[in-house]
Amino acid sequence: MSGRIDDEKIEEIRNRLDIVEVVGSYLPLRRSGHNHLGLCPFHGEKSPSFNVNAVRQIFHCFGCGVGGNVFNFVMRMEGLTFPEAVRRLGERVGIEVAQEAPSPAELKRRHELELFGRINEAAALFYQQILLEDKGGAVARSYLKKRGYDGEAARRFRLGYATDRRDGLTAHLAAQGFDLAAVARLGLIRDERSGSGHFDLFRRRLLFPILDERGRVAAFGGRVLDDGLPKYLNSPESPIYHKGNVLYGLYQAREEMRKSDSAIVVEGYFDLMALHRAGFTASAATCGTALTVEQVRLLKRYAGRVLLLFDQDPAGLKATFRGMDVLLAERVSAAVIELPSGDDPDSFLLRAGAEAFAARLQAARPVLELFMETTLARHGATIEGKAKAVEEISAKLKLLPSELERNLYLKLLAQRTGIDESLLLRRTVASAKAAAAPTVRAAAPPAARAAATARKNAGPGSVIRAQELLLQMMVSDRAWRLRAAVEGVATLFSEAQRRGIAEVLLRQDERGEVFSLDAVFNLLSEEQSAILSGILVNEQQLDGEGERIFADCRGTSVRGDVRRRSSELQQALRQAESDGDEAARNRCLQELMALKKRL
Ligand code: UTP
Ligand code: MN
Repeated sequence: MSGRIDDEKIEEIRNRLDIVEVVGSYLPLRRSGHNHLGLCPFHGEKSPSFNVNAVRQIFHCFGCGVGGNVFNFVMRMEGLTFPEAVRRLGERVGIEVAQEAPSPAELKRRHELELFGRINEAAALFYQQILLEDKGGAVARSYLKKRGYDGEAARRFRLGYATDRRDGLTAHLAAQGFDLAAVARLGLIRDERSGSGHFDLFRRRLLFPILDERGRVAAFGGRVLDDGLPKYLNSPESPIYHKGNVLYGLYQAREEMRKSDSAIVVEGYFDLMALHRAGFTASAATCGTALTVEQVRLLKRYAGRVLLLFDQDPAGLKATFRGMDVLLAERVSAAVIELPSGDDPDSFLLRAGAEAFAARLQAARPVLELFMETTLARHGATIEGKAKAVEEISAKLKLLPSELERNLYLKLLAQRTGIDESLLLRRTVASAKAAAAPTVRAAAPPAARAAATARKNAGPGSVIRAQELLLQMMVSDRAWRLRAAVEGVATLFSEAQRRGIAEVLLRQDERGEVFSLDAVFNLLSEEQSAILSGILVNEQQLDGEGERIFADCRGTSVRGDVRRRSSELQQALRQAESDGDEAARNRCLQELMALKKRL
C-alpha cells in the first residue's frame, strides 16, 4: 500500500510512454488500420482480437472484453495495484515516484499489517519445525505418509503440526517478544475467560498455511488426524485474511496457470495436494467456500479458462453451478471435470491414477452443457417441466459473451427439448445482445446506419448503442460534454455503467481541469474501462449525427427502461401465477400499470 501519487506525476509518466511500445514489449503486435492487433494475453485465443490504439493510447480485447489505458494493462499483466503500476512504469521512463508522506493512521495500519505478517510467519515456522523434526510431530508425519506424502510435499506447502500442548504457540511467540494481543487478533491464540493468560487455537492438527498472492502467510487451516470434529478448523477472518479473497495453493500454481492459460479449482487442501503430487500443478482450492468474484478475479490474472473440479455429490454440483455463474459474469470460460459419483479428486487419483485423471481433464466440457443436462433432467419431460427448464437455461445463456457459442447452445437445447430453435432464439437473443453488446461485437456498422438502427428499433441493444455513441462524442469534444451536462446525465443514460462513465467524463470539466483520457481511465471501474476502451478502439465517423444521437438517448432512456422493466415484470408475473403467490402477483400488476402510465 502507499500514499496517493499526484495526478501530475501520473500524467507525466503517461506522456513519456507509448502504449504500443509497452504492450509490444509483452507480445507481438502488428498494424491494422488505426489499431495494432495481437493475440490477447488475458485469454487463450488463436486469432487476434486484442487491439491497441496509439491515438487514444488505450487497449481493448473484443474476445474477453478487457480494456483500458497503459496503467490498466500493466496492472492486469503483472498483477499490480494502481500505485504499483505507476511506479513500475515510472521506472521504465526514468521518473521516480516519490510517495506522499502517509498519514499517521495509514502508518499505523501498515505497521500493524506488517506485524501480523511477521506473527503468522513465526507461527508457520514453529509448526513446520514440529512437523519436520520434532518428536511431537511423529504422529503427523506418519499420517502424511499414510496418505502418501513425503517431506518434500510437506516442505513445498509449508505444512505444520500443532501438538496437544495447550499453549505451545503462545509460549513460543511470547518468548520471541510478540505482543500476544496482536497474536490474538489473528485468532491464533485466545484469551482465557478467567483472564489468566492465553491458549492456542490449533491443537493436535495438521496445519496448512494459506498464502496470499505474494506468498505471505495469511491464515491457517488445520485438519484433525482422526475422526474428531470439526474436521477442519480455520483461522478466523482478520485484517490480513478474508476467506473469500484467497485461494489455497494459488501462489504455488501461478506460473503453471499462466503457461497453460487454465486453472483447475478444487474444494479441499488434500485435493490440491493430490493434484500436485500427480503433476497437475495449475490448481488451487476454494477451501470449502463457494467460488467468489474476488477469487475469480485473482484467477483471471493468470488463466483464461477455469476447470471446476468439485466433489461429485449434490453439494459439489451446487457449488459447480454457483461457480459457473460467477465465472460467466466475469467472462471467464468455465468448464467442468467430471469424476465418478462419490469421488473427490484425492480419492479418484488414489484409485485410478494420473493417467485416468488426464483423460478426465481432456474430456472436460463447458459447465453450461452440464447445467443444461441437469436442469432438463430435474424438471422432467412434461410440457411444464420443459418450459421451466428452458426458462432457467436461457437465463444462463444470456450471460455468454459470444453469440456463436450462444447459438450452438440453442441448437443443443432445441435438440434436447424438441422446441423450435427459432422460438428459443427469440427468447434469448434480445436481452443477450444488451448484455454482450458493450464489449463483444463484430466490426460496427457505419455510424449513419448504426444511428438509424438505434432510432428504428428501441430494443435494449440499440439503447446501449446510442449511449455509447454519445460517450464517444463526449470524449472527442468538450462542446458535447457541456451539452450533456446541461441535459443531464440521468436523462441521457439509462444504463448504469455507461451513466457512470459519463459522470466521470464530466467531472474534470466541472473541476476546471484539462480533459485527460488517462485521468478518466484511472477513475473508471474495471468494467467501465472495458466498455469505454471498446467504444474508442472502434471509433465511428459521426459527422452530422450528433443531434440525432442526443435525441436517441433522450428518447430511449425512458422508453428503454420501461420496456426492460415490464418484460422483467411480465416474467415475474408468470412466475407468481404459477406459484400461486397472490401478493407477488399484485405487486407485479401494480407496477406494470404504473409503467403503462409513464409511457
Ligand atoms: P471435505 O470434507 O471434502 O474434506 O471438505 P477434504 O478436503 O476431502 O479432506 P480429506 O481428504 O477428508 O482430508 C472440503 C474442504 O472444505 C473445507 C476444507 O477446506 C476442506 O478441505 N472444510 C471442510 C472446512 O473448512 N471445515 C470442515 O469442517 C470441513
Ligand atoms: Mn473432499
